[in-house]
Amino acid sequence: MKNDTELQQFLEKITAFANKTGIAYRTGDIYGGLAGFWDFGPIGVEIKNRIKDAWWTDFVRNRDDIVGYEGAIITHPKVWEASGHLSSFTDPLIFCEGKCKKKHRLDHLIEDHLNIKTEDLSLEEMGELVNQKKLLCTDCGGVLGKPITFNLMFNTQVGPVKDTSSIAYLRPENAQLIFSGFRNVIDSTRLKMPFGIAQSGIVFRNEISPRNFLFRVREYELMEFEYFTNPEKINDCPDFDTVSQINVNIYSREEQTPKFTSEYLTMNIQEAWEKKIFKNKWQAYWLAICNNWFTQKLGIDEKKLRLRQHQKEELSHYALDTWDIEYNYLFGWKELLGCANRTQFDLEQHHNLSKHKMEFSETDEKGVKRYIPYVVAEPSVGLGRILLTVLADGYQEETVRNRKRVVLKIHPRIAPFDVAVFPLQKKPQIIEIANRIFVTLREEGFTVKYDDSGSIGKRYRRHDEIGTPFCITVDFESIEDNYVTVRERDSMNQTRLRIENLIQELRNLQKKFTK
Ligand code: GAP
Repeated sequence: MKNDTELQQFLEKITAFANKTGIAYRTGDIYGGLAGFWDFGPIGVEIKNRIKDAWWTDFVRNRDDIVGYEGAIITHPKVWEASGHLSSFTDPLIFCEGKCKKKHRLDHLIEDHLNIKTEDLSLEEMGELVNQKKLLCTDCGGVLGKPITFNLMFNTQVGPVKDTSSIAYLRPENAQLIFSGFRNVIDSTRLKMPFGIAQSGIVFRNEISPRNFLFRVREYELMEFEYFTNPEKINDCPDFDTVSQINVNIYSREEQTPKFTSEYLTMNIQEAWEKKIFKNKWQAYWLAICNNWFTQKLGIDEKKLRLRQHQKEELSHYALDTWDIEYNYLFGWKELLGCANRTQFDLEQHHNLSKHKMEFSETDEKGVKRYIPYVVAEPSVGLGRILLTVLADGYQEETVRNRKRVVLKIHPRIAPFDVAVFPLQKKPQIIEIANRIFVTLREEGFTVKYDDSGSIGKRYRRHDEIGTPFCITVDFESIEDNYVTVRERDSMNQTRLRIENLIQELRNLQKKFTK
């Protein structure tokens, strides 16, 4: 982890870069911004949409065992009563009693300024630490008060009358919409166990101290699914063999002790299963699939990812066991994706409170069996957090022939444009060919940017910065020989290719991509 100044400089740099390239801006920037809320610009929207589309394609559309769902944003208060969020979705908070009266997130304050891990500490223990270590307000040096817990849910009033009966909540997770709508889904489909229900959508959390650019915000898009099985079959995972040889970096509870000095142990999923590191086979399967998705489909560096098991005290109220896929950011190893084993907790809660049966019926040779399904795994990841991770992983500054080049080395699958087309000069014959290539590529489903402003060098730099993987230049020779120059972003190699072969050649280059 970098020191505070280096970290601050990096965050300022990446925020300025995101601003300059049209990736993300502070919301209401002209009025000073609103902490924890971001707008996405023309390039950010494209990258974000492509990540979301890749997720939906790989985890829903291309799987026979997962279906989609889209619950409402403003939700019935009973949903959050049943789920336990009204009582337990809280963070520890402490107020400055000095001049500034600032609210601090207590666990972060202790971790950042006393360098003590807080996962195992209760609210009272954290309060004692503040007294013992004489921790003061980091903004004004004032004395800190008594710690309290703070509920992170935003609420609103529905309808014209403002009283307690009209309170409803902005969802802090999509999962509860899936659980409370479970009965409707199974009644209106012919799903067979095991299966998943997925949702991608905006969620809201009134974070005490939003920070680190897109990492901790108050409104973000959450992509998650619940994977249900028969509670007696949580280890019946027929596809386990397809992931058993995938290597992952593991940081289990046992490794999170002072005597263990390395940041993780690398082993394949089969080995980890045999060593009883995971509690159920499906959770191991989904962690492998998600880790592989980040490395193979999004091109994230595998050495910077690890699977970390939650400490017992850190587990959410609904979880029996949770593993995070963490990324090694400049501000340390932090959660990119969470994957909880939620057991039957949520469906049982809704079953009891709503008096609607959340049971699944299965018929076998012994007759009809009814049971409340078991959530073996809930892979859950914030879209903005993925965007931040691909920026952090792909942003590079290089010196090329004594000149600095900023290049965003992201996977072509999530680049804002597949390819850019440049006419070298504004000569009618050159423009005619460039236009023809542009239109043909679009018709073939490529996302293409036509760019004719500035020198070719400037155009390359502009597209390097936003991650366009291939640029095509049409020049004078193209008029004679029907060849164009294709330049690759990362290697900067330039190759002359026949115009009629461009579509196939570009598809091959996209497939061949490695970082
Ligand atoms: N349904 C389970 C759930 O919501 P979570 O660990 O609270 O679990 C899931 O959140 C994911 O959402 C995290 O792994 C992270 O990617 C993202 N996330 C959580 N809080 C966030 C925040 N304040 N800002 C941005 N992303 C966040």
